[in-house]
Parts: sequence; C-alpha cells; structure tokens
Amino acid sequence: MVILGIETSCDETSAAVICGGEVLSNIISSQEIHAQYGGVVPELASRVHLEMIIPVVERSLKAAGLTLQDIGAIGVTTEPGLLGALLVGETFGKTLGQSLGIPVYPINHLESHVFSGFLERRDITFPFIGLVVSGGHTLLIRVDAVNEYALLGTTQDDAAGEAFDKVAKILGLGYPGGPAIDTRAKLGNPRALHFPRPLMNDEGYGFSFSGIKTFARNLVQKQKTISDDFLIDVCASFQRAVVDILTAKTIRAAEEYGAKDVVVAGGVSANSELRATMERECHTRGIRMTAPRIAYCTDNAAMVANLAEFKIASGVKAPETIAAHSRSTLLPFSL
Ligand code: KG4
Ligand code: ZN
Repeated sequence: MVILGIETSCDETSAAVICGGEVLSNIISSQEIHAQYGGVVPELASRVHLEMIIPVVERSLKAAGLTLQDIGAIGVTTEPGLLGALLVGETFGKTLGQSLGIPVYPINHLESHVFSGFLERRDITFPFIGLVVSGGHTLLIRVDAVNEYALLGTTQDDAAGEAFDKVAKILGLGYPGGPAIDTRAKLGNPRALHFPRPLMNDEGYGFSFSGIKTFARNLVQKQKTISDDFLIDVCASFQRAVVDILTAKTIRAAEEYGAKDVVVAGGVSANSELRATMERECHTRGIRMTAPRIAYCTDNAAMVANLAEFKIASGVKAPETIAAHSRSTLLPFSL
C-alpha cells in the first residue's frame, strides 16, 4: 500500500511517499525565515507551512511518479510540537483523507523519530533502546513492540538540541546551533575546558543540560574577546560533555535491558561526534547502533509515513477523526 506522510510540527514542511518500506520520495522544505530571529517564531512557522503544504505534497507525489489516487493511507504528525504548525498538516491530512476516502493515522513525532532507524535497516530487533535527541526533546525509551514503550528517562530542564542552540547563541554562532558547533568542534580540543557532566553517573536515566549551558555562559563572560582558538575549544569541550552523557546512559540502558539494537534519532543525532562515539561504544559491547542518514535525522515526513506503515502492519486501526496537540497524547506516558 502506498502511504503519504505529512510533517509540519516545527519549522520543516515535509511530505513523503513510502511503499513496502521503500521511500519513494521525501521532500523537505526548511523555513529559512527563523534564522534572523535566533529561533523558531511559531506564528511565522504556521504561515509558511500554509504556503508550502500543497506544493510540497505535490512535489512528493511527482517525485514518486504517483498521483493522489494511488495513495492508500495517510500518516500525519499531530503531536507534540507547535500547535499552529501542527494544525496545518493535521487539517490538510484529514481533509485529503476524507476527500479520497482513505484512512488517516495520527502520528506522534517522537515515536516517528524512534522508528526512523527502520528507514536504514529493517532487521532492528525488539526490545531496542531508542534515544531521541531533538531541539525540543530528550528521551530514552525502551521499545518492546509497535505501541509498547517504556519511558526510561527524559530531561529535567533543557533538551539536548536546545543546549546546542543556546550555547551557539552565547558564542554568537546563530541558529540552528547544532551544525555550527559540530563543524567548529572538529577543530578544537575536547579536553581544553572541563565541562560538568550532570547526572552522568546517576543511577537513573534522567538528563540535565542547563548546568552545561550555564558553564559555557560563565566561561564566555570571563573573556574580554572570544578568540577563534577559544571558540573551537568551547565547542569541542561542550560537545564532548553532551556526547559523553548521552552515550553513557544509552549504553547502560541497552546493557540493563539486554537490547541488541540501539537507535539514535532526532536532529541532534546528526551530530558527527555523537554518531562516532555511540557507534564505537556500542560496537565494543556487541550492540548494533543505527542512526538514520541525516535527511531522516532532522524533521522529515519519511519517518511519519514509515511509522504509519508499521501501525498498519501491526493491525492498528485509524481513528474516526484526528486532532492536533502540542503535547503527547498518543504515547503510553505523557511528555
Ligand atoms: O528533530 P529536529 O530537526 O527538530 C525538532 O523536533 O526539534 O531537531 C532540531 C535540533 C536543533 O536543536 C539543532 O541544533 C539540532 O537538532 N541539530 C544538531 C545537529 N544538527 C541539528 N545538534 C548537534 N549537532 C548537529 N550536527
Ligand atoms: Zn524532530
């Protein structure tokens, strides 16, 4: 069955077509307008989604060589995210589904990130440990089956991506901060500055990143001017601390629950240091690490269509109607 996926939860308008686990198209239109404001402006995001949703869906069908009549089901992100942004995709998806007389599956954005590992390989085994690290969320989750999840830990304060964005802002690197820090960190010394690693050796699976951000701010405030050498060392040392924490907790969860697979997803999983470290640490313990290719790490509709396909295959029925929510309602725990 051909499935159309739609994603508008934040600042990417995306539509994708999937059939039998194969991505036939994945069109992503990123909203450049927010860069000048140093972060996503919700009202502007909704307006741009409204302008882009029809052209993006049309392009995704064209790229797949299909028409609307070929679609058998729709998956659309309905939560969590910016409500006005979600409403654009949700209303469009619902209306299209009604007019075509096909089922529409509401998709949780975080759940779709967790399942994005299957876009790279189909043989990920349950239970696996999913680490979702994005601009808005940090969660460690045990995935026992489709729809069967145990939340192991989340962040007490800033999300991992938020820490990247805020530290980049402190350093004057602009938005989004993750890629800017990633690039500069390659040039710096990760041991130059001793960033704290909050909760890293704590017994639980909770995260806390605001202290790391404050540490960066204090470092910068002590400088008269920020030299290039200092900048790259802050980037490298900050990134090393975040990567150490994320890797330590994920590995511990995989070992505790006997998981053979780990999936790292969400925008921050695009981070080169996180991918390399997680891969290395998993490999030495006989655990397989999957981080989707970059286009499936940051927000995209291929992962939305992918999860809809998993839901259909496991017998989940589409609800009579769907609704957008800024917080998660479709998961067995609230976030
Ligand atoms: O999943 P995503 O595209 O959108 C949300 O749902 O939030 O994640 C965006 C986040 C931003 O905080 C951005 O700075 C971060 O992902 N990010 C990165 C990298 N690329 C994107 N963080 C670290 N390193 C990167 N290379
Ligand atoms: Zn995301």
